[in-house]
Amino acid sequence: MEKIKLGIVGAGGISRDRHIPAFQKLQDKVVLYGIQDIEELRAKDLALKNNIAHVFTNYHDMFQEVDAVLVATPNKFHAEITIAALEAGCHVLCEKPMAITTAECEAMIEAASKAGKVLSIAYHYRFMREAQAAKVVIQQGEIGLPYVGRVQALRRRKVPGWGLFTNKELQGGGGLIDYGCHLLDLALWLMGDPEPIEISGTTYNYISKGHEQVNQWGKFDSTTFDVDDHATGYIKFANGASLLLETSWAANIRGDANTLSLSGTDGGLDLWPFTLNKAKYGMLLNSEAEWIPGDETPDVQQAENFVDSCLGYSEPLVKPYEALKVSKIIEAIYKSSESGKSIHLDLKEREIT
Ligand SMILES: NC(=O)c1ccc[n+]([C@@H]2O[C@H](COP(=O)([O-])OP(=O)(O)OC[C@H]3O[C@@H](n4cnc5c(N)ncnc54)[C@H](O)[C@@H]3O)[C@@H](O)[C@H]2O)c1
Repeated sequence: MEKIKLGIVGAGGISRDRHIPAFQKLQDKVVLYGIQDIEELRAKDLALKNNIAHVFTNYHDMFQEVDAVLVATPNKFHAEITIAALEAGCHVLCEKPMAITTAECEAMIEAASKAGKVLSIAYHYRFMREAQAAKVVIQQGEIGLPYVGRVQALRRRKVPGWGLFTNKELQGGGGLIDYGCHLLDLALWLMGDPEPIEISGTTYNYISKGHEQVNQWGKFDSTTFDVDDHATGYIKFANGASLLLETSWAANIRGDANTLSLSGTDGGLDLWPFTLNKAKYGMLLNSEAEWIPGDETPDVQQAENFVDSCLGYSEPLVKPYEALKVSKIIEAIYKSSESGKSIHLDLKEREIT
């Protein structure tokens, strides 16, 4: 069988802990060929530990030798590296969020379409069994039209104390763009990719800017912290549906919460635990899933979906225009918070006004 040669840009935590172990499980289809990082020693170390034969100092050189690229750098560099890889004729799996701005996402889509190559974004929550099951249940019409979505991606005190996550210039924002983006993407996908028309939101960082730091994920510098640690958003869609979003790295709540709940015209769904909620036969019925034991492997399924798409056996589950929509909503929530106004998206012009 033909094998894809993969090159990795960014030898950080997500390459080490998620992507490399996942691609290594697919050795019949993919070869981890090379790696590049602006910190060369980091790339060398990761290559040595994972049997990756080639370390590059310049990613353009690597793109000449590989078929596909994983982009796993800080968000600020997603667009420029993805576009360079596509222009060199490589397929790209780019870490989430797709990019910081809508304009960057649009340029990435244009580059993919010009190159005729696969571009997908690593929204791996879609590969979770609950998400996959929910998609089937919705496609079967069990809940009718999902018209209200509720998303809570809440951490009580888990500001990332490593990496560059608290740096607005490099990441574009905090908890919303880093963590909230996953559940926002999942909700949009399950709701059938509706078109957002009006968005309002508010972001906060009282806790992380405070003097007394109580954090479960290491230490960070509150004096340079310039991103959100808590955000709320309200999104209206062209089809009449709406979505309520709350996300935090730090909030004074009882505990962490990962919630995605959809109300439809004929039923509702909660993802964790997975429950189908209906009114039938004059009763209120809730069916909770009992999962068949087995390995849950969203990371491997994500890697395999990408490799199979590069080989032409499959289509990427996460389409770039869907990931663009996530970034567009996040950008609008930040703009709404800054301006204190709702943001209206013009469907024809596709511009934020
Ligand atoms: N899918 C998820 O759940 C998830 C989880 C964590 C991080 N991420 C995403 O993965 C990306 C990387 O995060 P991370 O946790 O691995 O960060 P990290 O800080 O651990 O690693 C980033 C690496 O990129 C390198 N780098 C920076 N600029 C570069 C450039 N211009 N060219 C080449 N290399 C460069 C850094 O030296 C570093 O080694 C981010 O976009 C983040 O949002 C996704």
